[in-house]
Amino acid sequence: MAVLITHIGELVTNDPERDGLLGLVTDAALVVDGGTVAWVGPAAEAPAADEYVDAAGRAVLPGFVDSHSHLVFAGDRAQEFAARMAGTPYAAGGIRTTVAATRAATDEQLTAHVARHVAEMRRQGTTTVEIKSGYGLTVLDEARSLAVARQFTDETTFLGAHVVPTEFADDPAGYVDLVTGPMLEAAAPHARWVDVFCETGAFDADQARAVLEAGAAHGLRGRLHANQLGTGPGVRLAAELGLTAVDHCTYLDGADVDALRDSGTIATLLPGVEFSTKQPYPDARRLLDAGVAVAIASDCNPGSSYTSSVPLCIALAVREMGMTPAEAVHAATAVGARALDRDDVGVLAPGKRADLLLIDAPSHVHLAYRPGVPLVAGTWIGGRPVSPV
Ligand code: NIG
Ligand code: FE
Repeated sequence: MAVLITHIGELVTNDPERDGLLGLVTDAALVVDGGTVAWVGPAAEAPAADEYVDAAGRAVLPGFVDSHSHLVFAGDRAQEFAARMAGTPYAAGGIRTTVAATRAATDEQLTAHVARHVAEMRRQGTTTVEIKSGYGLTVLDEARSLAVARQFTDETTFLGAHVVPTEFADDPAGYVDLVTGPMLEAAAPHARWVDVFCETGAFDADQARAVLEAGAAHGLRGRLHANQLGTGPGVRLAAELGLTAVDHCTYLDGADVDALRDSGTIATLLPGVEFSTKQPYPDARRLLDAGVAVAIASDCNPGSSYTSSVPLCIALAVREMGMTPAEAVHAATAVGARALDRDDVGVLAPGKRADLLLIDAPSHVHLAYRPGVPLVAGTWIGGRPVSPV
């Protein structure tokens, strides 16, 4: 059944065949048929359809692709946030607080918790989400974290190398052996990606390389958390290995920027982290001007960024990171999709999956111009409405 969405004031297509970064079409229409986009063009030229949706001059854009989240967790770290706002610095060790709570939670509790956060994301326009493990840190808890995540997305990431858990404090090498051995064996059937927190206080470059190589031997694609808390080797390692994406990139030197440009590795910036940790925001302008591809994601997690809102991240990227509204929207849709090696989402063109948003605003600029306002008026995933239009 063909559904025609018409009277679209501004349609963001991200179609490289069209003009401008966002491939905008004004006074547009779009036909959805069988879960995919069947036609895009001026409303005046739209074909007939079985059903009609009147966008009444509002904007339509691809659903957000949130390429970085840690939704499988239990417990609450609100006091840690409050202490940070009073001046206590963020430290990677806070992860262990969530590990204890996650290990104590049942599968049912974890599933309900992820469901609630995914629903929260949907209401804010996210139509594709990546979800990591990383708060279990035992063979059983990492495998069940990924099995829970898999109920909600195909984009699941094994992050056994998040931090060294307390019981391995005296034997970090033994923990890397566990991650690259039995833990990976148990996790790989439930995961598409492998990730490492490559940072002082977590894992060094040699350990990160060992985990990524072991993951690759099990068919997992690599990504990295790097350069979040300071400069270091993580971004250059990601570039050297030709990873699809390296995430955080808060502290970069010139060699890091050059390496990203030369490798084509996407820099995924996570402004919710800098909001929530009071660290300086990454300089997206510097990366874009150097020719580096930049994605934006939420990093939704209970420690460093407890927001599920991609629109908030877009607003922060524009206000604090030197991105234009068009660049930020593109980063949260088309580039987010590329950061997950996906070519079926993030773009609205014939043949692409019909994942799209109708917003209560005349243009994409309002996503940054009206921060904190729930603008999403309708969401379709695979052509099916997932919230009232
Ligand atoms: O992406 N950097 C490492 N991991 C998470 C933080 C997790 C936490 O503090 O619980 C992040 O920021
Ligand atoms: Fe993260």
